[in-house]
Amino acid sequence: MRVLITGGAGYIGSVMTEYFVAKGFEVWVLDNLSRGYRDAVADDAIFVEGDINNALEIFDSKERFDGIIHLAAHSRVEESVQNPSLYWENNAVGTHSILEFARIREIPRFVFASTAAVYGLSAQSPIVEDTPPSPANTYGMTKLTMDMAIDSYSRAYGLTGTSLRFFNVSGTYRGRRERHLPETHLIPIAISKIKGGDKVTIFGSDYPTRDGTCIRDYIHVVDLARAAELALGRSNEGSYKVYNLGNGNGYSNLEVVRTISEVLGVSCEIEFSKRRDGDAPELVTSSRLITEELGWTPSIPALADIVKSSLD
Ligand code: UFG
Repeated sequence: MRVLITGGAGYIGSVMTEYFVAKGFEVWVLDNLSRGYRDAVADDAIFVEGDINNALEIFDSKERFDGIIHLAAHSRVEESVQNPSLYWENNAVGTHSILEFARIREIPRFVFASTAAVYGLSAQSPIVEDTPPSPANTYGMTKLTMDMAIDSYSRAYGLTGTSLRFFNVSGTYRGRRERHLPETHLIPIAISKIKGGDKVTIFGSDYPTRDGTCIRDYIHVVDLARAAELALGRSNEGSYKVYNLGNGNGYSNLEVVRTISEVLGVSCEIEFSKRRDGDAPELVTSSRLITEELGWTPSIPALADIVKSSLD
């Protein structure tokens, strides 16, 4: 099977590329390297440097793909609130371009990296796929909009579209790891601060949660790759599905930092600062639907194991 992975030089993309190559797929990566790294792409994948908006010009019409895993996006919650223009352009306009590429080139399967951020302020826990979306930031809005676009393309053009709504992703796979610049994610920041003997800053201590800090559901990055493989293998009849991907366990930011401190065996100092723009108080899901329908189960469900993997 020949698959095109957009954003394959980013964190999740580099893991997916590694995974699909290991599974024997012919993997092509399209990435403009705006936030990714060329050396993060597996040697056995075919790398094309270019923008998702130009896919029709980049790929000759004789190149046939069986499916697209569309990961290329900007994904920083706070940045999306401060610079919505960038997010609508890259995540919405860019995704529309790659959807058009799929339609015009008759690529039958489309797997999209959607996000927990579409649920944002929905205040339901655990969140399920039927929970009404209520994004708390522009990032979530752009992803929700494109979920709807894929739904409409599936109905009208016979695409088999799947939106995988990733909750909080961490961990490494075969040396592929988080390399964000600047790093904004809690687990890698807390690891480096605790190791360096620095204070960890937690944004917000007045949320309506058990300890006042935000609650998130962490999932190992390799479990996303497995879900993408199952989603690609869905029947080719033209339908759209949404699946949530998490472990069903909510950890507060304070609990995450304490878990990291325990795994490292080093005590840590915590300071609280004001809330970060766009943060939802609690995002915890049930992944029962993808388990029932596609047989997905997480291989590394425990937060301590996800943290240990992030240390590799
Ligand atoms: N946080 C801190 N201190 C830090 C960094 C983060 O307190 O130094 C807090 C954040 O404010 C938030 C929590 O830790 O409350 C998690 O923040 P992350 O930046 O690690 O992750 P987010 O939940 O903001 O977002 C991530 C992805 C999104 C995705 C979302 C799904 O970056 O793309 O998970 O829940 F949509």
